[in-house]
Order: sequence, then C-alpha cells, then structure tokens
Amino acid sequence: MDTSKRNVTHPDLSENALAVLRKRYLKKNERGEPIEEPIDMFRRVASNIAEAERLFPHPLGDGATETDRETRVAYWRVRFLELMTSRKFMPNSPTLMNAGRELQQLSACFVLPVEDSIDGIYDTLKHQAVIHKSGGGTGFGFSRLRPKNDFVKSTMGVSSGPVSFMAVFDSSTEHVKQGGTRRGANMGILRVDHPDIEEFITCKNDNDKVNNFNISVAITDAFMEAVEVDGDFDLVNPRNGEVARTIRARDLFAKIVEGAHRNGEPGVVFIDRINDHNPTPQCEIESTNPCSEAHLPAYDSCNLGSINLERFVGGDETGRPIVYWDSLADAVRVAVRFLDDVVEVNRYPLPEIEEMSKGNRRIGLGVMGFADVLIKLGLPYDSEEGIAFAEGVMKFVDDEAWEASRALAEERGVMPHFRGSLHEERGDRVRNATVTTIAPTGTISIIAGCSGGIEPLFAVAFTRHQAGMEMPDVNPEFVRVAKERGFFSEDLMNGVAKHGSVRDQNTFPDVPEDVRRVWVTAQDISPEFHVSMQAAFQKHTSMGISKTINLPHDAAPADVEDAYKLAYETGCKGIAVYRDGSRDAQVLSTGAMR
Ligand code: CDP
Repeated sequence: MDTSKRNVTHPDLSENALAVLRKRYLKKNERGEPIEEPIDMFRRVASNIAEAERLFPHPLGDGATETDRETRVAYWRVRFLELMTSRKFMPNSPTLMNAGRELQQLSACFVLPVEDSIDGIYDTLKHQAVIHKSGGGTGFGFSRLRPKNDFVKSTMGVSSGPVSFMAVFDSSTEHVKQGGTRRGANMGILRVDHPDIEEFITCKNDNDKVNNFNISVAITDAFMEAVEVDGDFDLVNPRNGEVARTIRARDLFAKIVEGAHRNGEPGVVFIDRINDHNPTPQCEIESTNPCSEAHLPAYDSCNLGSINLERFVGGDETGRPIVYWDSLADAVRVAVRFLDDVVEVNRYPLPEIEEMSKGNRRIGLGVMGFADVLIKLGLPYDSEEGIAFAEGVMKFVDDEAWEASRALAEERGVMPHFRGSLHEERGDRVRNATVTTIAPTGTISIIAGCSGGIEPLFAVAFTRHQAGMEMPDVNPEFVRVAKERGFFSEDLMNGVAKHGSVRDQNTFPDVPEDVRRVWVTAQDISPEFHVSMQAAFQKHTSMGISKTINLPHDAAPADVEDAYKLAYETGCKGIAVYRDGSRDAQVLSTGAMR
C-alpha cells in the first residue's frame, strides 16, 4: 500500500522541478512562454503512450467492440498518468519533451556504426546530427577505422585515423543543438588493441578538446590477462588484421589509469563481458550511449525510464520504516508496459534504427532515489547492509520487470529478433531483449524530487550564492531529522553547508553517530564501496549502470588502478572514476557550490 497523498490533478513538484520543466520541457508559444502546465505535460505523455494499446490485439479478440477498445486505452492512460504524477516513475527526458508533439522522438540513447570508408563516416555524421536535433545522445565505436597514416588505396594517400575523425563528429555536435535546446552528448569508444589507442587515451588530456565526447577504452579479457601476468599485447590493424605493434600491457594500462586520474577520461568498458551478456549476439556491441549505461549494437536505441524508489518507503503502524513491495511490483509492471508502448509509438530518426529498435525492443527501466531510501531505512551507503539492500531491491525490480516482459510476450508476442537470441536459447519467451538499465537520471530526478540514480548524496548541504548573499541550502529531510532529534541550530546548518558532509565527528560533535553514518556523501565513501555498490546493482541489471566512482583530490594513480581492477573482478561492465577537483570547470562542488 502506498500512503502518499499525491493526487492526479496537482502533482506536487518542487520549485526546482518547476523551473526545469518551464525552461525545457513544457510546450511553448513563439514568444517562448510555456503554454502548458506540468499536469498537461503528464497528460500529453500518458495519452500519447497509451495510444500504443490500440495497436495491439484486444484480449477479447474480434469480439471487442469500439467501446471495449476505447476503455482499454483510457485505462492505461490513467495508469500511466498516475505513475508519473505520483512521481513513482519518470520516462527519460526525450519522452517527456516530445511525446504527443511534432518530433515524437522518445529515446535518450542511440549507437551508430562507423565504417572504415569516407562514405560510411559521413553518412553517420549526418545521422548523428539528425539524432541530436531530436534530443537523443549518440555513441560510436571507432575501432573499425584504419589507424592514422595507414594506406588509403583510392587516393594512394594516408588515413587520418579514429581520433581525427572523432574530432569531426565533435565539431559537428558543436553546431547542432539537441532538440533545439542543448548541445548533443556523445560517447567515443576505441578497442584497447587498436594501433591508435595511445593517441586516443590522451586526446582529452587538456580538458579543452573533444569536449562533446566522453571517451572509453573497450578493454578485452585478453588485455586484462596480459596486465595480470605482465605480458606483451598486440595492437592490430583492423583493415588487414596484421599486428601493427607489440607493447607491454602494463604500460598501456598505466596510461589509461593516468588519464583517468588526471581528469576522469578515459573510462573503460569491459567489452567481452558486455558481449557475453548481449542478449542478441546476432548483433555485436561496439559502443555504449554517452553516459555508458546502455550497451547497444549499431542502429539500436533504448528508451529509459526510472522508478523513484523513495516513493515506496513509508512507515508501519509503529512508524518503523518499511518498503511497500507490492506497490513497487505494480509500478514496475506498469512501467515496463509503458516502455514497451514507447517502442511502438516512437518516431525513429532512421529506418535502420526503427527496424533494430522494434526488433530487439530493448527497454531500460532503472531506479532513482536510492540514496534517499537508504537514509530513510537507516542504512549507510558504505556498509554491508547498504550493499545487501541494493542487491535485494534490484533483484526484485529486475525479476518483476522480466515477469512483465513475459506477460507482454504472451499478450503481444515475443520480440521479433527472438530467434538466435540468448532468450531463445534459454527457452525464456520475453518481449524485450533487455529490461533494466540504470541511468544517471540527471534531470528526471530533479523533476521527481529525489536523489539521482543509485548515487549517494553529493552533499548534505551547500552554500547558495544568491543576490549577493550566502545562504545555506540544507537537505530538507536533514533539517527535519535535526529538529526531531534535537540537534538543530542555525550555526550547525551553516557549518554543514560549508563542509558539505557531516561525517567528521570532531567537526560535528553534536550530530549523533548514527546520523553521521547514514547521511554519507559521495566524497566520504571509499572507492571500494562505490565499486561494490555498482557491482551489487550490476548483478541484476540487463544492461549497464551509470555510476561515478569518486576519489579524493589527493588519491594516487594506484588508487585508480585498484578501482579499475576491482570493477573487473566484481563483474562490473565498465567503470568511470572522478577525482575531486580534477576538471577545470567542475559542475558540482561542496562548500561554495555552483
Ligand atoms: O534525466 P534525463 O532523462 O534527462 O537523462 P539522464 O538519465 O541523465 O541521461 C540518460 C541518457 O540520456 C544519457 O546516457 C544520454 O544517452 C542521454 N543524454 C543526452 O544525450 N544528452 C544530455 N545532455 C543528457 C543525457
């Protein structure tokens, strides 16, 4: 049972949520003024997505009357609307922005192929622009491009190489605004055995190049084995399969680690592991989306949506916090139906993408508000109990999501690319190649008013500089707890805002020990716990996980190396680290923030 008192006509949104919606999501007139209220936006989205219900056979078959059909669409419209207005679930931004509008492009993530030919590269460049214009992010695997200075037959000249072409994609991004509002995001991936890998690893060293790309090295199992035994490793020309150079694996690994230590780039993805788990092995995975949670073959897309876990925790009769598991199960099932409907009513930017997306029907249901839930339940993020809870809750969400996909397969048929899939091999009749993926939820968590994705809190409080004044902005739940437990004071709140964190007992002797343990922030948590948390979620997630492994400013390269190795050993599909203060323009910082 969910005790929340939200009602369908007046979703209670925070000031921040309203500001974000007005700026970027609500329909506007020519003067740029919003012409819909948030509730209209949710109605627009719910009505549009529920239209998919009309396209599938009615349970009563030919016996269904027009009224039966209408009733069915209306039923799901209300269920979808309730899911969003109660803030239990939000679809990814493009769905909120574009559903029921001219664009009707609903996916956040796409991967495009990069063929080793000028025609192929420039076709993809155009496709990138088309996708960015519609609000999607793009990922590219550059590994099929021949290396720099390699032979080009048609011109009897030499090739420019992957890094140079990546700069072309980067530059084009600069000029195409995403959905008319923001610049597009890209992921560039190069295999660790490509001859240009060293140039790729260092291409973002200066923080001022290829800024519209995140970069990741696709690390193979063979490479990790060579690092382990301190062996040699071959770099291979993809054009002819010849060994271009042999290097010491540990030297290359050290370069990757050095870059990540310097400014968080490159990240790594464990590409063999990703392909071992690829449910559609017919189409190899070469890349991920920009924030690296969606692992997609070329021309595939993924619709994301996230369950706000915070909405499913309340108190029992004695006030003890409990999780409303039945209500969570129900929300997951409706959300999976919603996302499968999105696949149907989505307008795809290219016919190839439509074929692949409708064939695989990849959906990515994730969770957000996880840190809020741990705090409510009194479980520290960096504790065995916190990690055990993570594994349990994600297993629950994933199991329910697969149940929902099986039920949809009964109703609507298995996914068209079922033949040859891992699901067919296992005899598991499902409608979707994947069901779960954990996105960053950068904006939708603001709309839902919860902590982002599975990340810990960034700060308990920060100092807001507004109108020439410095004001502490403290997490309202922390203020409530401080008042209830009797340790609230203005002085304390100012102090917390200055530090961001309350972990240190010497600084905050008045804050009770259990509160200091539970109100933990990203910077308080050791890299090992960050990685363990990611690994716990990965166990029950079909695709990948967006998570930052935070390191203190004074962390050494060896700490980064340990985190990378731990991620590999614990079954993560990739890793992205961030050393505090290591990028010139850091968006979030505690103390004096933004
Ligand atoms: O919260 P929201 O739905 O806006 O997005 P997110 O969960 O932070 O990001 C999900 C995915 O959207 C990313 O991994 C990208 O593929 C895409 N994205 C993008 O293309 N451009 C952005 N500025 C942000 C996200």
